[in-house]
Amino acid sequence: MELRAFLLVVHLLSTLFMAAPFYMLIIVNERARTGMPLGYYTDRFMENIIRNNAVRCFIFQGTVAASGLWLTYITRNSFLPLFTEPALIVKWVALAILVSLLSYIHFSVQPRIETLMQQVKPDAPVPEGLAPRIAALRSRRKKLSGVCLFLVLTALVMGLRATFFYNYYLAIGLIIVAAFYAWRVYRKPVSLGWI
Ligand code: HEM
Repeated sequence: MELRAFLLVVHLLSTLFMAAPFYMLIIVNERARTGMPLGYYTDRFMENIIRNNAVRCFIFQGTVAASGLWLTYITRNSFLPLFTEPALIVKWVALAILVSLLSYIHFSVQPRIETLMQQVKPDAPVPEGLAPRIAALRSRRKKLSGVCLFLVLTALVMGLRATFFYNYYLAIGLIIVAAFYAWRVYRKPVSLGWI
């Protein structure tokens, strides 16, 4: 019992810290709202926050996976439900996609943004044509961040289903709401929290 409670705390804390896509979307939407052109200080600061967050995120993903697998074993006495219980299947598939998307961003998109950002200097004008190239990569990163937020919320909804075994219709309803909300956060900095 105590082990289950302990693992659930670890599992829930990692889930909480996996809210990164939510906050990263708020940061980039707030950046857009300033309306300022590409510039060294603002954009270097924002890119540092986003870039350095990836490693933290990998660690929380690893923790959620380890605690989730352990919870599966102690609550179901086997790992078989990972392939037979829909809630658990959705959870680990969502996590696998999250890890893949973060790897793609961290090892492919972000390094390309960094290479372009090196041409943005504190004391010189931004080279012609650079801003749209950075904007294109950022736009891809932002879209994937919206997908990540949706997947984190989906795994969370399925986690509650894995604990309380509530009706699947409710789970599907909650996932649809999660999709709307992720879309909303993608579009606007949700100043009033839910809207
Ligand atoms: C390998 C992936 C994962 C596995 C095997 C897994 C497994 C589990 C299991 C077995 C439970 C039920 C625990 C119990 O009843 O004591 C649970 C609960 C939960 N999981 Fe996961 N999980 C995984 C990934 C995730 C992810 C990615 C998230 C969210 C980002 C998440 C969020 C939750 C939440 C919110 C709960 C509910 C805890 C509660 O009832 O208070 N899980 N998970």
